[in-house]
Amino acid sequence: MSSKTHSTFPISLSKRIISLFSHEGELVLDPFVGSGTTLVAARDLNRNAVGFDLKEDYVKLCQSRLASETLFNHAQQLAIQDEALNISNYLEPESVGLIWTSPPYANLLNRKRKNKSRRGDTRKNEQFMKVEKYSQDPRDLGTMSLEQYSTVMGDIFERLLPLLKYKGHCVINVPDMWWENERITIHVSLIEELRKRGYELRNIIIWDRTNIVNRIGIFGWPSNYITMGVTFEYLLDFWRPPQNEDIQQGNSDGSIEGNSESGMDTQCQTWK
Ligand SMILES: C[S@@+](CC[C@H](N)C(=O)[O-])C[C@H]1O[C@@H](n2cnc3c(N)ncnc32)[C@H](O)[C@@H]1O
Repeated sequence: MSSKTHSTFPISLSKRIISLFSHEGELVLDPFVGSGTTLVAARDLNRNAVGFDLKEDYVKLCQSRLASETLFNHAQQLAIQDEALNISNYLEPESVGLIWTSPPYANLLNRKRKNKSRRGDTRKNEQFMKVEKYSQDPRDLGTMSLEQYSTVMGDIFERLLPLLKYKGHCVINVPDMWWENERITIHVSLIEELRKRGYELRNIIIWDRTNIVNRIGIFGWPSNYITMGVTFEYLLDFWRPPQNEDIQQGNSDGSIEGNSESGMDTQCQTWK
């Protein structure tokens, strides 16, 4: 397990998504829970949450992160070891308020890391020239080619759709990547695939992880500009489209439907 892989995903971002797109007491689902950032954020925000992961190690890690009790908080969070394709065996239709996840990113991580996005001393860190991947399990999305990955992601999310409430959001965090000097637009493949499977894209939010990647502030901006493709990630915001009667009553406009705690009121956002 690479602890590094998980340390770069900020809990503050997870909390922002959860408070924007769900209400207290609702159920948040993370189909690729990893070290459990979603579950910890959900606990802090009094949301019920369930996360799934192929790997026992990650499920145990989630359980240990959740071990500390919080007073006055009645919501429950649970990590289950199973593959994402099986999630519909555990949950009732329309029981999920929000799907929120940071999935594996096809087999692009199965190669030697050159840390080109990192500058100076941080480039030759413990990941340098190591192959970083989650496992060799054939069910692990991190081992698949982009084509196979997109299809299996489609299969997984198609099965998740009936579990989601109508107008419930599904937010997926994904980067693009560079491979042999070509930009691999994982976010485009995912948008196309999920649209085919019945989801509607509502919004794309970009979050800037420059400071996390390079551990430098604003003075590093010229080099950040060059490597921008890997220093921001997309938050693809889909929803389960409303039922027909809702559409006829005109209850489905083009605006962001989330819980407006975070004040997000435009169609394109960049978050730092
Ligand atoms: C990017 S990590 C999740 C990171 C997470 N946001 C965190 O905070 O740690 C992706 C996870 O998906 C899991 N995974 C890969 N393929 C899976 C599958 N088919 N079903 C369930 N989990 C899977 C991996 O074991 C890995 O822990």
